[in-house]
Amino acid sequence: MRTTVVTIDGPAGAGKSTVAKQLAKRLHFSYLDTGAMYRALTLKALRAKVKLEDESALVALAKKTSIDFKEDPRQGLRVLLDGEDVSEAIRQVEVTNQTFYIARAPRVREIMVDWQREIGTKHNVVVEGRDIGTVVFPQATHKFYLDANFEERARRRIKELEEKGQNVEAEKLKQELKERDTKDMTRTAGPLKKADDAVFIDSTDLTAEQVVEKMSERIKGHKVSESQGRK
Ligand code: DC
Repeated sequence: MRTTVVTIDGPAGAGKSTVAKQLAKRLHFSYLDTGAMYRALTLKALRAKVKLEDESALVALAKKTSIDFKEDPRQGLRVLLDGEDVSEAIRQVEVTNQTFYIARAPRVREIMVDWQREIGTKHNVVVEGRDIGTVVFPQATHKFYLDANFEERARRRIKELEEKGQNVEAEKLKQELKERDTKDMTRTAGPLKKADDAVFIDSTDLTAEQVVEKMSERIKGHKVSESQGRK
């Protein structure tokens, strides 16, 4: 079966998750949060006290790991690490700040990419991440790159954490966000980069609904022009 894949890449805090979930719902597609996979493997490595600098050890760990997603009617999408629900645990600051070890390891990324492609060949799916339009699904039907200015992305992250009841030091968070941006954009393997054929959307002054609307319009417009092209 040929599936339709929509890719959304962009930096932390650009609004990818909110938008990707809403868009998937609207299109009746599945939703894949690839960042959750990198986070889940980081959590497992931390718990197992695997040296995060040791790529071979990370590869061995990845090979004996299963990461699944399950839709819960009340709580939404849940992330399962070897069957355990780790949806909250993978959002801890400690995990967030150490995920770059997994993300920078080329051989671990290859395993992640294989998992992601397997999902994308089975379902119509909206996939969000950093390298989805460039590396994972370069042939995707629709590609978006979502960004927002730094202050706005930091503001959103702070709001999100405060809503979860966490105490946030704004300056520290900004520093961490800046470091994560640099690491995401400068690593050799699968860096965050806009695919040449991705549509760029700046969400700084837009609500999630407005971004979803823009994406839906592009997707619909694309279908029209494709069918016109075939006539
Ligand atoms: O989207 P997120 O913040 O949950 O992602 C966490 C980290 O995972 C991010 O800082 C970099 C990494 N990541 C990646 O390297 N490639 C992806 N496709 C998705 C996430």
